[in-house]
Amino acid sequence: MPPGFESLAAAELDEKFPELVSDESYRRGEFVRGGLNLSVPIEIVPDLHFKLKLPTSIRERLYEFKCRDFPKLFNKIQSLPWRRHLIGDAFELSVSAETSRLGNEKRIAETVTDGIRRYFSKQPAKKPAVPYTHRIYVRLSQDICTISRDLSGDPLFQRGYKELSAIAPMRENLAAGLFYGLWRESGGFDCLVDPMCGSGTFLFESWLFWRDVRFIERDFAFFHDERWGVSRGHSTQQNNVAGDTLPKPTHFFGFDRDSRALKSVESTVAGLIKKRHLEADESPWSFTVSDVLTADFSKQFADLRIDPARSMAVIANPPYGERIALPMPPQSYYPLLLERLTQAAGPNVKALGVVIPSSYHRHVHNKSGSFNLARTIDFKNGGLDVQFQIFKR
Ligand SMILES: C[S@@+](CC[C@H](N)C(=O)[O-])C[C@H]1O[C@@H](n2cnc3c(N)ncnc32)[C@H](O)[C@@H]1O
Repeated sequence: MPPGFESLAAAELDEKFPELVSDESYRRGEFVRGGLNLSVPIEIVPDLHFKLKLPTSIRERLYEFKCRDFPKLFNKIQSLPWRRHLIGDAFELSVSAETSRLGNEKRIAETVTDGIRRYFSKQPAKKPAVPYTHRIYVRLSQDICTISRDLSGDPLFQRGYKELSAIAPMRENLAAGLFYGLWRESGGFDCLVDPMCGSGTFLFESWLFWRDVRFIERDFAFFHDERWGVSRGHSTQQNNVAGDTLPKPTHFFGFDRDSRALKSVESTVAGLIKKRHLEADESPWSFTVSDVLTADFSKQFADLRIDPARSMAVIANPPYGERIALPMPPQSYYPLLLERLTQAAGPNVKALGVVIPSSYHRHVHNKSGSFNLARTIDFKNGGLDVQFQIFKR
């Protein structure tokens, strides 16, 4: 998962797989930068892919051994049972090395490739009925070599439901992580508003968050392993997550000043309806053209006429002044945006989460109207350091 989201990813796992929490070896799992090392039963690999929304990929740890020289690396690699892990003799390598005697990544890749070739020269590979190239990760750190295999295939943020994309969309797993952080921090809510929704990533990801994604057609590396085979279904129902009583959003409202962005979200909704993932009269989203910096926005927000008994939250990823220009210096823009959002928010808005470039977040006050800064998440978006600021009443 993206660095900065490790503890939210652990919370997502605990919430969606409550049966794991009592398992001693699962609890001994550890956080690493941008990842979690966990021990889980292999039967749940498909469900991890279908239910979790924060990971970028899920890998299976195959081997771990001490290794300080190339002959030892070659010998060890050629002795491992590659027929169990590969289809035919195809593979793709990804190598990383740090603080180890073996530090030359290119030479490590050549040695591992030679070792695997030698293995297959001794026991020739079966010709595959359906070819597939698995990705093998080789990592050397402090003279320990770990070998893992990717189970996901294409990155998991490539969900496959968007028809078109507006400019500067956020990666789906980042958007899911920010939504989840806001949802947990605020104690849940019934409706979510994104005033600068672009291609609608926050609003689609929050709808999808507790849904099983097996209804979306895409390939996964684990489909190409006979231990799991192919397991698809068509359910778009929410998973019932035991023990969780916080309200989950059921209605999603998007605004954007750019009507072309809203065309892209409308085509995504139309695509979900066309593929029968949603009935035409069931759409939980509504989209409106509006400029959040104008007085009209407060009026259009009030015109949503949400029942005062229903709780709301606002989430926004504004432009950073890079791909989309800002109408004023960033030092004034972000505080003004916060002011506009808190002015427009009615009393049922519990929380507000806004992404702000790290070089400017000090210009935004910890208090805006009746909202106070409650939590921050630092991460990188499109290579830029940014901070997600969560404000609560
Ligand atoms: C960084 S993009 C948001 C990306 C979005 N989260 C996604 O993943 O597609 C910023 C969006 O804000 C919109 N925007 C910029 N200024 C705006 C304003 N004053 N009012 C409303 N929308 C605005 C842009 O048209 C753009 O779609």
